[in-house]
Amino acid sequence: MSHEIQTVSVPEELRSTIAAARRAGKRIGVVPTMGALHAGHLSLVEASCRECGFTVATIFVNPTQFGPGEDFQRYPRPLANDLKLLSDYPVDLVFAPEQATMYPPGSTTFVDVGPVAEPWEGVHRPGHFRGVATVVLKLFNLVAPDVAWFGQKDYQQTLVVRQMVRDLDVPVEIRVCPTIREPDGLAMSSRNVYLSPTERRQAIVSSRSLRLAEHLVAAGERRTETLLARMQALLATEREVQVQYVAIVDPQTLAPVDEVGAGAVALIAAKVGATRLIDNVLLKPSLTR
Ligand code: PAF
Repeated sequence: MSHEIQTVSVPEELRSTIAAARRAGKRIGVVPTMGALHAGHLSLVEASCRECGFTVATIFVNPTQFGPGEDFQRYPRPLANDLKLLSDYPVDLVFAPEQATMYPPGSTTFVDVGPVAEPWEGVHRPGHFRGVATVVLKLFNLVAPDVAWFGQKDYQQTLVVRQMVRDLDVPVEIRVCPTIREPDGLAMSSRNVYLSPTERRQAIVSSRSLRLAEHLVAAGERRTETLLARMQALLATEREVQVQYVAIVDPQTLAPVDEVGAGAVALIAAKVGATRLIDNVLLKPSLTR
């Protein structure tokens, strides 16, 4: 049932509303987003509303996680539609601050999480995770949530956030929900709207390559060399898709592994036209083989 959601843009109002919920004994859940909400975000909202007595969704296109020449300016900002989508869920509060509220003139402190932020996305988007960790910590300080919800699609981001929370003693439980996909397998992303119909068709090859790896692992293949060769061969069939990296890595350190042992993650980043997309799957060998 749709309802009017309280939306605030300043920290004082955010803090006082949440303090009242906390005094009422409610468990506070936060779903940090940059807006342009899709079913992936909404699955996080749904999970938070199910498990927490008070859910805050944040909507803020964070400038510090975009590099020069990236899509900060054109990132979609359909706030009215986002609020409409959220109104179908029992979300208690939306925090949608202005840029000057989050980064007032003179802000100079950043969070640098170290090695887990360095490979893969860290190579292709230098400074990205510094911006992510900084804004997520700021949101955690403002909301003081008991639980924070993230999507597995941004796998490396979930590790960065977990590392930051551990290292800086932030008292919040991090929960990660599965990637939500379009019926043809494409991972939901706010950036999918950039794709032309042709690019949209071409983009599917990345999720198909991940699915291929899953099937091969399910069929008993363990050598990452073989898995990557099969994935690369499939990716090469779509010549307009420029793969930036495809890797099979340790789920904690993100270091490449030779074998899919107890478990690994297949990561991919590719550009389809001007649009950069990322995706991943957890590879779990069945114990019975
Ligand atoms: O995943 C995102 O949408 C963003 O990186 C986040 C976590 C909201 C921080 O800006």
